Amino acid sequence: MVMPAPAVGAAVGFAALAAVLARSIKKVLDTPSRPYNGSFEGVGKEYDEWTNEGILEKFWGEHIHLGYYTEEERASGWWKANFKQAKYVFVDKMMEWGDADNLENAERILDVGCGFGGSSRILAKKYPDAKVTGITLSREQVRRGTELAVEQDLANVEFKAMDALHMDYEDNTFDLVWACESGEHMPDKQKYIEEMTRVLKPGGKLIVACWCQRESPPKFSEEERSRLQFLYDEWSHPFFISIEQFARFMKGTGSLEKIGTDNWVQQTIASWRHSILVGVINPWPVVFSSPVVWWKVIREIVCLERMHRAFRDGLMTYGMIKAVKKIQN
Ligand SMILES: C[S@@+](CC[C@H](N)C(=O)[O-])C[C@H]1O[C@@H](n2cnc3c(N)ncnc32)[C@H](O)[C@@H]1O
Repeated sequence: MVMPAPAVGAAVGFAALAAVLARSIKKVLDTPSRPYNGSFEGVGKEYDEWTNEGILEKFWGEHIHLGYYTEEERASGWWKANFKQAKYVFVDKMMEWGDADNLENAERILDVGCGFGGSSRILAKKYPDAKVTGITLSREQVRRGTELAVEQDLANVEFKAMDALHMDYEDNTFDLVWACESGEHMPDKQKYIEEMTRVLKPGGKLIVACWCQRESPPKFSEEERSRLQFLYDEWSHPFFISIEQFARFMKGTGSLEKIGTDNWVQQTIASWRHSILVGVINPWPVVFSSPVVWWKVIREIVCLERMHRAFRDGLMTYGMIKAVKKIQN
């Protein structure tokens, strides 16, 4: 069948319009929307917004970090695992790996960059005799974390708005300093490690989980640079460093020993696509929000997929870094 000329013209016009539209959308999606603006207020404001929207909490629950997928779960299909439960498993595994699951004599515990305080509350339940403090840049997270602690009947946990790079605490205050996926936002990662070391008691434990970029080969191609830059800028990260660099910073303090590292990419990588999948299975919290939220969620899906690919391709690594503060004679 031969199409009449006006129909051919309309089809060509429609195809051209669709191509222009697709190019424009790609350009907008390729331009990061929330670059780190050099201020702590900026990061705090982003988390205030995420907290108030409630979408993040609906999908991720009380933990804003990746989940841990066991070998069996990975073998039988990560999509069958429980998305939120994987985050609780992560905290357990982090505690076990950092040798922090037997601190019965702990008096004070610090959760640096605590989000809504998921880890803080687990630590507070595990160590009811210890006082757990979570610090964050977001006042809304302090409010929500406190609300959840009251709901869970926990009297030994508190949340404060405080900058991790300039903490109000005396030297040698905490038995455990826990930092789960907060280092990504730090504009001075050396100071981050030094400050956490300063407030740690001699003999105390420091455990850090952080998205890192590869150390080797050290040179990034132009394409890799631009992929990393997008990942920095989309979620307010100044930059990432390597696992090895974190370990060097720990060594450089002169006060830490028993420094250990690991790369948990295999254990955590499923989280990225699992995040997308839970939204596809249950889109209603987003559907019943505003068009502004729809657009934000589209952007999040793009970033989640790009994160997945960066970890899959070895451009990014999942850093686990631990140490013990030396007991000086
Ligand atoms: C990805 S969330 C991780 C939250 C939490 N650790 C968890 O696992 O659920 C990053 C957190 O780091 C906090 N953060 C970023 N920069 C910070 C800073 N300079 N001082 C204190 N907290 C900071 C943010 O406010 C946010 O709570």
